[in-house]
This record gives sequence, structure tokens and C-alpha cells, in this order.
Amino acid sequence: MNASQPGPMSLVPFVSVDDMMRLVLGIGVETVLTELGGYIEEDFRRWESFDKTPRVAAHSDEGVIELMPTSDGKAYGFKYVNGHPKNFQGGRQTVTAFGVLADVDTGYPVLLTEMTILTALRTAATSAVVAKYLAPKGGRTMAMIGNGAQSEFQCLAFKTICGIDTVRLYDIDPQATAKAARNLAGKGLTVIPCASAQEAVQGAEIITTCTADKQYATILTDNMVGAGVHINAIGGDCPGKTELHKDILLRSDVFVEYPPQTRIEGEIQQMPEDFPVTEIWRVMTGQAPGRTDDRQITLFDSVGFATEDFSALRYVHDKIRGTNLYQNLDLLADPDDPRDLFGMLDRRSASLKVA
Ligand SMILES: NC(=O)c1ccc[n+]([C@@H]2O[C@H](COP(=O)([O-])OP(=O)(O)OC[C@H]3O[C@@H](n4cnc5c(N)ncnc54)[C@H](O)[C@@H]3O)[C@@H](O)[C@H]2O)c1
Repeated sequence: MNASQPGPMSLVPFVSVDDMMRLVLGIGVETVLTELGGYIEEDFRRWESFDKTPRVAAHSDEGVIELMPTSDGKAYGFKYVNGHPKNFQGGRQTVTAFGVLADVDTGYPVLLTEMTILTALRTAATSAVVAKYLAPKGGRTMAMIGNGAQSEFQCLAFKTICGIDTVRLYDIDPQATAKAARNLAGKGLTVIPCASAQEAVQGAEIITTCTADKQYATILTDNMVGAGVHINAIGGDCPGKTELHKDILLRSDVFVEYPPQTRIEGEIQQMPEDFPVTEIWRVMTGQAPGRTDDRQITLFDSVGFATEDFSALRYVHDKIRGTNLYQNLDLLADPDDPRDLFGMLDRRSASLKVA
């Protein structure tokens, strides 16, 4: 083998941001949300086959950097993700991510991919799949509070998976609302910009909160939430970062991904350790009820869990097969003799001198 050429086992498929955009647009955003929702639901239904741990979070005054690993015994996945609410002031995103899928038997990565766009898609797909079980039947209007990077994905997922036809947008920054309204124009939704959160929730059967602020915020107060509503709370996902007044939690049936992580990071961090919650996988497998009556307030206290990223990695890995939507990265050292790593390095010096 030419000393400067990567060996066959050195190559790992890499999906760049541009490849991801080509993949998603080629399939269609709404079809991706639906298909991804299917993968996410499938993995929630086999919840017990996953290794689970609360994500490993490194907090600073400005934000958090997190690693989110899980495995089903055959494949292993992890995501690197950050959350920095003030980033946009410097032209950066609040949330960026990348991730790896690996083969458990060899430990070799089989995919390295951007996950910033993928996280927005998987978060929206998760929210909508969960809402299928919890939102009031026939709900057609969603209040979308927080109109940043995630918001259009949420609106489109609820349209395509839950059948909403109207979104009522609110953000403290009117430019964010104008941006979301622009992006959603012509996408099959009636879009109503609102001047306050109070106005946005009027007539909405579903309320999504997706704001970013590293504090105990009160995006919704108790008086804003009427009977029968489903709340999809996305933005409270770190210690010291919540969106709902605790009185709302007292009136709601609360559904979560993985309690050991949500009790640290979710809205329920405001509540005692034994505050009752239902794990959403139990609802999806028929072991626990979801919505049981028209007046019940259901709350999905979402923080984002590693299995959702695992599902997304699995989806991308399946979808890029046989396409040109990735590049092969020379990521893994691949000496001719697996034990001769030093020899591989040493011999390279000779070819460098020749070059
Ligand atoms: N649960 C999950 O799985 C998950 C996944 C991804 C992101 N998130 C969280 O979702 C949130 C939104 O992410 P993003 O990427 O869209 O962030 P972003 O910074 O792009 O947008 C956040 C928006 O919230 C608005 N906002 C802040 N305070 C507000 C308030 N009091 N009322 C109304 N609007 C307010 C901001 O003006 C901004 O437009 C973040 O907190 C992020 O950590 C959660």
C-alpha cells in the first residue's frame, strides 16, 4: 500500500453540514421529521434494551457542554452538544452539536456527523411523537413561545405528525418572530405573530415553550394555562434554567424522558425528589396512560435524552448508504500489522523525506 494512502479500515463516513442539508432537502423536511419520529418512537418502545445514564454536563457561567452516550448492545452513540444562550450576540448559535455512531463488537466508529441541524430535527420529532399520545384530540392550534433556531422545526413537526394547522408565535425579540413567520410562510400553516405570551396562548390546545435563558424564567404563569391543554416544554433543560411557574406543575400530569436526568435538568427540578412523573416510554408501550380526559393538563418536561440522538444517528447511517452524501474521513490509524503502529509512523517519515 502507498504509505501516504489511508488503509481500508481507516475510513469513517463523515456527514458535513452541507451533506446534512442535501440529505434533508433531498428527502423533504417534513418526511424526515416523520421518518425520524418513527425511529425515535421505535427506540422508546425498546427502552429497556438501552444503557442509560444522565448526560455528563460541564457547566460554566455562560452555558453548558454536554456528552450524551447510550448503547443498545450492538451500536453505541454519543453526541457532543452545547447550550450558550448569549452566543447569538457574537453571531454564534445557542446550540451546536456533532455525534458518533460506533459498532459495539469492534469499537470502530461507523459514522461521524454534524448534529446541529439533526438535533433540531430530532427534538422537534420527539416533541411531536410524544404529543400524539398527550395532546387533546383534534387540537389544531399551537402557541410557539421562543422563536429561535428550534422553532420552525417544532412547528413543522407538529403540523406533519400531529396535524396542527395554526401557530401563534411569540418571542421577546420581535425580529425572531418576524424571522420565524418569514420561514414558515408558504409551508401550509396559518402563522399569527403575537405581542405577548398571554396573547399567543389564546385558543391554543398545545403550548410549546422553547426559549433560551440561563435562569429560572417564568415564560408561562399558572393563569395562562387553561384546562385540557398540552404543554411541550423544551427550553428548561439545565440546572437553574426553567420556563414554567411551579404552580403549573402542580396542576399537570408530567411526562418525562429519563427521570434521573430530568430531575436534575427539567422543570421538575423545582419540585421535591418524589414529585410524581410518568416515563414517556411507558405510555408508548401501553404500560401507562397518556391523556385520559379532556380537562387534563399534560406536560412533556423535555430535556432531550441520548436515545433520541441514537435514533437520529441510526437514521442518518441508514439514509446515507449508497449515496454520495458523505465523505470518507481518514480518522482511524490502520497499520498493515495491527500491532505495528509505531512502524507505520516510522515508515511515514521516510516517505515524508522523499516528498
Ligand atoms: N429539550 C431538548 O431536547 C432541547 C433540544 C434543543 C434545544 N433545547 C433548548 O431549547 C431552547 C431554545 O433553543 P434554540 O436553539 O431555539 O435557541 P435560540 O437562542 O436560537 O432561541 C431562543 C429564543 O428564545 C427567546 N427568548 C428568551 N427569553 C424569552 C422569553 N422570556 N420569552 C419569549 N422568548 C424568549 C430569544 O429571544 C430567542 O429568540 C434552548 O434553551 C435550548 O437549550 C432543548
